[in-house]
Amino acid sequence: MTVPLSGPAPVVLIAEELAPSVLEVLGRDVEIRQVDGTDRAALLPALADAAAVLVRSATQIDAEALAAAPALKVVARAGIGLDNVDVAAATERGVMVVNAPTSNIVSAAEHAVALLLAAARRIPAADASLRAGTWKRSAFTGVEVTDKVVGVVGLGRIGQLVAQRLAAFDVTLIAYDPYIQPGRAAQLGVRMVSLEELLREADFLTVHLPRTAETVGLIGAAELATTKRGVILVNAARGGLVDEAALADALASGQVGAAGIDVYATEPCTDSPLFQLPNTVVTPHLGASTTEAQDKAGTAVAHSVRLALQGEFVPDA
Ligand code: NAD
Ligand code: MLT
Repeated sequence: MTVPLSGPAPVVLIAEELAPSVLEVLGRDVEIRQVDGTDRAALLPALADAAAVLVRSATQIDAEALAAAPALKVVARAGIGLDNVDVAAATERGVMVVNAPTSNIVSAAEHAVALLLAAARRIPAADASLRAGTWKRSAFTGVEVTDKVVGVVGLGRIGQLVAQRLAAFDVTLIAYDPYIQPGRAAQLGVRMVSLEELLREADFLTVHLPRTAETVGLIGAAELATTKRGVILVNAARGGLVDEAALADALASGQVGAAGIDVYATEPCTDSPLFQLPNTVVTPHLGASTTEAQDKAGTAVAHSVRLALQGEFVPDA
């Protein structure tokens, strides 16, 4: 049951498009305002009297944004990655940061698998070619996934779901993640290896890391040079984990056979060397863009916002 808020209606700023369920959960006793969070000139003044701000991944809630929000009690990230929120600066100001860490993991995992299969079978390029009126079969010869080695970089929630789904293709699963319990990997039939070994052995490589100071640039030119020639790489985690220029060079030379990419170092991104190559499958950060994931993420953080505005304990969403 929703507990009514006391006092004047707090301003809740919605800075990105969120599921319709968000408004229902936020209720009628808050004042909803909308702003385009990617437009800094609009965002900063809009934060001036906001008690809560809700974002996805495109809005930067950095120290400057927090300084512009003296009444802010809670930043709600309707999704997983917190790399667009300066959590340390928020904490210093006494502003709570909430996210929805399991809301979109299934969608993100399914998208990574979709990119992997689409890259292996060159589906978008073949689709474009047929729509352009050409019937080419030999130009789009792909590779099978079955009996190959799949390397998962980051065996967290999404990496594990990807591993479970790809296990159905009878692959050998290896993973690099220094922080994971070896027992969990064994349960999933995944052999934990070093990053060097993973790069050497994988036929398919899929990245599921958060974007942190430690992970940015983890896979660059030097790492790509050590992979099997023709490896297929998927990044549906965060831009910048795989160096984009190095990846484009490796795709052009054939060192990387194909890549499925959902995320970019700078977003929105409409101009990348990756978009000019025939052996890439690219999507505009769609990993969490399903009805189900958006509904779960929006509902979870809207509940957390209400609790925060009531001054209540906010459990993990
Ligand atoms: P998670 O925290 O469950 O898993 C991340 C894993 O990475 C953890 O197991 C952790 O131990 C590991 N890790 C951290 N630093 C590492 C390092 N330096 N080397 C190796 N492993 C390291 O997170 P998750 O739910 O699996 O999500 C992963 C990321 O996917 C999120 O942080 C987010 O950025 C991204 N994501 C993208 C989309 C999308 O729309 N494309 C959707 C959801 C999540
Ligand atoms: C996430 O980290 O949850 C994803 O990037 C999805 C999103 O924000 O849209």
